[in-house]
Amino acid sequence: MENVEKRPVLNYVLLLVLFMLLLIGNLQRAVEDDPNFDPDILRLDNGKNKYFLNDPIPVAVEGEVDSEGYPAWYSRSIEDLLLDASSIQELLSNLGITHEESARTCRPHRHIVFLKKHKCASSTIFEILNRFKKKHKLYAASKPLASFVGGYPGKFKPEFVAPPQTDKYDIIFNHFRWDESAVRSVTHDDTIFLTSIREPLSHYKSVFDFFYGSYKRESGMVDHACNLACEGQPFLAMLGKAGEHFEKYMDCIPECYNASLPWSFRARNFQTFEMGLDAGPNFNSDLDQFTKAMDFVMITEKFAESILVMRKLLCMDFMDLYVQPKK
Ligand SMILES: *[C@@H]1O[C@H](CO)[C@@H](O)[C@H](O)[C@H]1NC(C)=O
Repeated sequence: MENVEKRPVLNYVLLLVLFMLLLIGNLQRAVEDDPNFDPDILRLDNGKNKYFLNDPIPVAVEGEVDSEGYPAWYSRSIEDLLLDASSIQELLSNLGITHEESARTCRPHRHIVFLKKHKCASSTIFEILNRFKKKHKLYAASKPLASFVGGYPGKFKPEFVAPPQTDKYDIIFNHFRWDESAVRSVTHDDTIFLTSIREPLSHYKSVFDFFYGSYKRESGMVDHACNLACEGQPFLAMLGKAGEHFEKYMDCIPECYNASLPWSFRARNFQTFEMGLDAGPNFNSDLDQFTKAMDFVMITEKFAESILVMRKLLCMDFMDLYVQPKK
């Protein structure tokens, strides 16, 4: 019974591992070109050009190293490694991950804030953190409505956390709008602050597609009264009807943008809005302050690298990165 249930899970994990290895390989050039890439990711110049966390080089079996001291599997193809492993445990062991996890001394980090911004891979990151939360029994700030916490779209206020409230939450990771002092007032001193960002134009289009484009008919945009998430808005009000294309919207925005419309912030820089930044003379210093407050900002376009760095920061197990596919 147990085996029957575990089988599909193992297959998904195997696929995730394969996907991540391929992605890391393909993104090598992009990372190399980026002078700011995380120093924890080390380039191993063995002709294979792969990136791994800068931990002691994992060796699956003592002595199994090539002439340059790298683990034997570095010179083998991913296909060979996958074909050779009869279970996910064996694959993780072949890759040195089992060894790395048993050798490390870190403890899972129990105090986390993830600013979950819309359309920045944040639901996937949320799923990973949600499993981590359950595994380690973290006390989360609960959302009173939909997927929002803290009085969204207003800036985070502790009084808008659903009961039971407490002095300090282990984890806050639903959608909320950043307010540093308010968030710090209900979190522990050693909290790790995380968020994710995305290339602005692709983000802008994704917000439009999600809140407006995914509804074929006006009647599908349920919240005409705009009482909760205001699906469709402000795009529906600005375009006058459902079904318009992004190009049409981009042509129209110089004239049809109306700051008085409810949820008009979705039609501006929605990313900085959710980061709690307001347009004005203090913008740059507020942005600096936000950057200082964040321990790590994940990049949607570098998702695989981002979650590997998150794994290291939070001392997660590799298996913690598994996410159940939704579709
Ligand atoms: C902007 O939106 C507000 C609120 O819906 C509305 O009262 C106003 O007439 C709109 N302005 C224009 C120029 O459409």
